[in-house]
Amino acid sequence: MGVFDSGFGGLSILSALHDLVPHENLVYFGDTQRYPYGPQPQEQVREFASQISQFLVEDYDVKMVVVACNTASAAALSFLRESIPVPVVGVIDAGVRAAKTITKKRSVGVMATVGTIASGTYQNSFVEENLTVTYQSCPGLVEFVERGETYSDEILVLLRALLEPIIRSKVDTVLLACTHYPFLSRAISDVVGRDVFLVSSAEETAFEVSTMLGEECLECERENMGSIQYVSTGDPDIFSRLGSKLSGLAIDSVRHVGVEYLEANFRKVC
Ligand code: DGL
Repeated sequence: MGVFDSGFGGLSILSALHDLVPHENLVYFGDTQRYPYGPQPQEQVREFASQISQFLVEDYDVKMVVVACNTASAAALSFLRESIPVPVVGVIDAGVRAAKTITKKRSVGVMATVGTIASGTYQNSFVEENLTVTYQSCPGLVEFVERGETYSDEILVLLRALLEPIIRSKVDTVLLACTHYPFLSRAISDVVGRDVFLVSSAEETAFEVSTMLGEECLECERENMGSIQYVSTGDPDIFSRLGSKLSGLAIDSVRHVGVEYLEANFRKVC
């Protein structure tokens, strides 16, 4: 199955998938040449998501696409479900479900990219009585992760400024609604307080994928020795080094695919 993100963020989903369905063959696509998706217009992100999904289906014959990116899920999930000939799973419903289950005080903070918050997708998914949700876009965080930096004074200073409204709301749960943010968990926890539960959509998404594989009769044999292949639009050596460091996965070999190739070979959204 194909899993993609703007960069390293989706590796948090890939790890959870590899743990839950180790017999599946996975192809991870990191669009590191074109990250961050968060500040870019929705139509642009939809175009990127469409090119990558088509590429995964045509070049790797994947049986399912996992959009391991909140920004791309918000911008493109319905479009991909209509245009890609295999099941497509996003990360938003899974995160919302997990946060709703975990909060005891019925007060949740949502951290996400500018594009995700502006899309209104989480606001529409969280509609529920007796639940207060504080939304915060967090520009600048993804860039730290893409540089392999997950804890520093600069990160703490930025987080203190960004998360002030969430802290003021006295939430007991923070949903990390960008797949890059779990890599910043220690810093986020230091800023919001150790008693606040940080929720990532990774495990919940992996469960959703596993259930769907069963329902659609797409599962590999349990005896199969699953594999992971990596593709990136950026520098493959940097992807291998930083991706391994961030995720703990052994990323030995990465195929480079140029952005020009994607743009020239896959049909346009409009
Ligand atoms: N990891 C992505 C997300 O979940 C994208 C972040 C970005 O490229 O701005 O939103």
